[in-house]
Amino acid sequence: MRKFLLALVAVAAAGLAHAAGPAIPLEAANTNVSDRASLQRGARLFMNYCASCHSAQLNRYSRIAEDLGLTEEQVMQNLNFTGAKFGDGVKVAMDPADATQWFGAAPPDLSLTARAKHGGADWIYTYLKSFYIDESRPIGWNNPVLANASMPHVLWELQGVQRAITEPKTNDAAGNPQPCPKGEVKGACLVRFELVQPGLMDEAEYDLAIRDITNFMVYMAEPAALKREAYGPWVILFLAFFTFLAWLLKREYWRDLH
Ligand code: HEC
Repeated sequence: MRKFLLALVAVAAAGLAHAAGPAIPLEAANTNVSDRASLQRGARLFMNYCASCHSAQLNRYSRIAEDLGLTEEQVMQNLNFTGAKFGDGVKVAMDPADATQWFGAAPPDLSLTARAKHGGADWIYTYLKSFYIDESRPIGWNNPVLANASMPHVLWELQGVQRAITEPKTNDAAGNPQPCPKGEVKGACLVRFELVQPGLMDEAEYDLAIRDITNFMVYMAEPAALKREAYGPWVILFLAFFTFLAWLLKREYWRDLH
């Protein structure tokens, strides 16, 4: 019980620490859930790099297979590393209590994050792009989108390691603080992120990878959107056909009146 209360306090404290919201402008994620290849790549990256800490309990492996056009075998061999059953939701190998102890906050379930987060897909995309080294923190990383995040930069091998170049905030003639056009990092204006150690991917490849992960998370938050988008063109076609019928009918009625 004490452990539980401690965990609760840790989560509440993490919540308060982040209450400020993103300190840099969000970048457009430009995701597209009808891009199946992107969803498949995103699922692979998600299961390899995120599901070790985060669950996505509302999304069953079987449903993911169906929606992404994968076989049971493909999913169980390439996307499921926890020994969960095909019909189970995406589980996490780590005990949440351990995670709270290690990271100071339990990694939240990510099933609905793309919908629940203010900023949605753009928030996630910008978050995954903006980890920088911060030696003042025990975790070694920081992120202006989620200030003092207790999540390490798990994709650093792909992106490389970047540091934040900042300049002091300025005041105008009247002494009023001026806003930072590119946002703030630890009380100073962000100029840019500078790569101090290259990763396995160049910038364009990395952007694509995190767009794919974000796309998969958007899909997970609303799997029904896939089917809806697939129905879309048929609905439009039906409406067009119906409009044509109505027009024929109108012409028929008006013929006698002219
Ligand atoms: C080593 C464990 C770990 C891994 C791996 C990890 N995360 Fe996290 N993540 C965390 C923790 C801990 C938090 C809570 C951060 C906080 O509140 O300070 C978090 C928070 C988040 C949040 C914010 C959620 C919210 O509601 O505030 C998102 C989004 C997220 N992670 C996405 C990802 C993605 C995408 C990946 C894979 C690329 C990933 N995480 C991999 C530990 C991890």
